[in-house]
Amino acid sequence: MRKITVFCPATIANVACGFDILGLAIDNIGDTMTVTMTSHKKLEITKITGADLPMGIDENVAGVAAKAMLKDLDISCGFEIEIVKNIKPGSGIGSSAASAAGVVYAINELLDRPFSLKELVVYAMQGEKLASGSLHADNVAPALMGGFVLIRSYSPIDIISINSPTELYAVVVHPQVELKTSDTRKILKKEVLLKDSIKQNADLAGLISGLYTNDYELISRSLNDYIIEPLRSLLIPFYDKVKLTAKQNGALGSGISGSGPSIFALCKGEESAVKVKKAMLKVYIDNGLNANAYHSKINDNGVKTIKDEVLQS
Ligand code: HSE
Repeated sequence: MRKITVFCPATIANVACGFDILGLAIDNIGDTMTVTMTSHKKLEITKITGADLPMGIDENVAGVAAKAMLKDLDISCGFEIEIVKNIKPGSGIGSSAASAAGVVYAINELLDRPFSLKELVVYAMQGEKLASGSLHADNVAPALMGGFVLIRSYSPIDIISINSPTELYAVVVHPQVELKTSDTRKILKKEVLLKDSIKQNADLAGLISGLYTNDYELISRSLNDYIIEPLRSLLIPFYDKVKLTAKQNGALGSGISGSGPSIFALCKGEESAVKVKKAMLKVYIDNGLNANAYHSKINDNGVKTIKDEVLQS
């Protein structure tokens, strides 16, 4: 019997240009999760620290993702799951995705990898469905695979890893308000104007091209959101001011991280990222609002094992 502890990274979904189809993983913030293989055929969440989340398998994103995966396997063992949440639910940096991705990754490792990472994304998406009401993979795919990930198609699922330039850093500033993805999806329009779709497609293509050619100027010109930002930004305190401050301090661009309220910026080099992070954070501090801020290189690994123990029976 084995027990495995994994680091489950935070992620930035949408990345301004690619609503529901583009995401990236970061490094300096994430949950940890320990999954123990047991001899009785039972799936159980035994402990959650750091957040007030349901322990029932069918009510918890990790439980739902694990259950979906185990349904496709003919095994006689069970699993106990312990979750340490460092990513606040409702923060916009993939809290539910970290749990869903972490659990399927850990179980897959304990079973000597019956599934590929891309196959695991499909199971982890079931957790996202519970959390947000929609089957989106732009957090779980980068959480599992690392780096920038494009979901080219959902039906059939087609997941593509995208190059990230080595000097690219992400900054995340999280004002302490909670926005539920399920709520922020409800305010979105069901239809998009053709003129906005043309601009958005062009910028998404520009961003992907810039990522492959290490063209930071092109990345910068392309980081625009014509479809989602005008609606969701209204829910985020001091959004326009924070975005302007990021740009004035040298960010390549910025936008809403996932469904918010976190705001991300992309920067060239760590020095620039630190400067941008401090400036963005200062907007909230100056206005008397609590906020956390992180900066990180793009995390190329995704979920990773930090401890693997064989237990004495
Ligand atoms: N693409 C999803 C959304 C990500 O914006 O609703 C949620 O983190």
